[in-house]
Amino acid sequence: MKIRKAVIPVAGWGTRTLPASKAIPKEMFPIVDKPVIQYIVEEAVAAGIEQIIMITSKGKSAIMDHFDFSYELEDVLSKKGKTELLTIVKKVSQLAKMVGIRQGNPLGLGHAVLCGKDAVGDEPFAVLLGDDMVDSEIPCIKQMLKVFEELKAPIVGVCQVPEDKIHLYGVVDVKPIADRVYGIKGLVEKPTKQAAPSNLGIIGRYVLTPSIFEVLEHVPFDKSGEIGLTEGLSGLSHLCPIYAYEIVGKRFDVGDRLGYLKCNLNYAIKDPYLREQLRKAWEELLGNS
Ligand code: UTP
Repeated sequence: MKIRKAVIPVAGWGTRTLPASKAIPKEMFPIVDKPVIQYIVEEAVAAGIEQIIMITSKGKSAIMDHFDFSYELEDVLSKKGKTELLTIVKKVSQLAKMVGIRQGNPLGLGHAVLCGKDAVGDEPFAVLLGDDMVDSEIPCIKQMLKVFEELKAPIVGVCQVPEDKIHLYGVVDVKPIADRVYGIKGLVEKPTKQAAPSNLGIIGRYVLTPSIFEVLEHVPFDKSGEIGLTEGLSGLSHLCPIYAYEIVGKRFDVGDRLGYLKCNLNYAIKDPYLREQLRKAWEELLGNS
């Protein structure tokens, strides 16, 4: 069955990136010259997704505006003869069909996904977190859709995480079943390194079936007053087999300041001019420090 819809939660507070994210959503931070969210929507579209269900909240309207048709801007660019820029701007508003759903109160990732229930309906769907970027030859979510096609069961994207960072992730307890594919036996949210069942941390990419909604509706609020997606997946794993897929690509948590800076450098050095200029600037700055 073709997966047509992707839920992209962008409603979180973004406390790790304050004060930058106070008035500007972190999902709108630029990576070289494009906002984070555009890379993510482009990844989904490149995987054949037709409809984006954006879970937004107060103060995040810039995200939907970015994908909207802007008559005034297009008119100005056209009158000034800036055809290259006009094409770029037009392309953004034609990327995909967009549905915006408000998560009145950002009560966690599980709650954000649950907000997409009616828009998703009774079909499997992808989830891409709005602050998690993956640079890969084959779009990350496309890799996962391929695994879903074979297994016809929920797939959680994971990557290997160093021991000193594992306490920041949801971690899967697994048994390998094929190259990069694992059966999930259990999931633990942010374990200590001693308690972590593996070194495979959950990243912001999922392919889910609508049964996740029934589970999320019954997940209680955790200690911090949130409904966690990992908790929902744990419940789902008791109802049906679910799998982890170790993604191929470079993954960046852009909701973290170091991850954000690394991601910018990763994309900047793909441009030969910026690569050379950055090398010089780097030497200059380090030489002076
Ligand atoms: P994070 O786990 O990074 O949470 O969310 P956060 O609240 O945005 O950021 P910090 O930890 O306070 O810095 C991952 C993605 O899920 C969205 C966020 O906007 C981000 O893109 N999210 C998170 C929601 O849509 N709703 C929520 O309730 C929580």
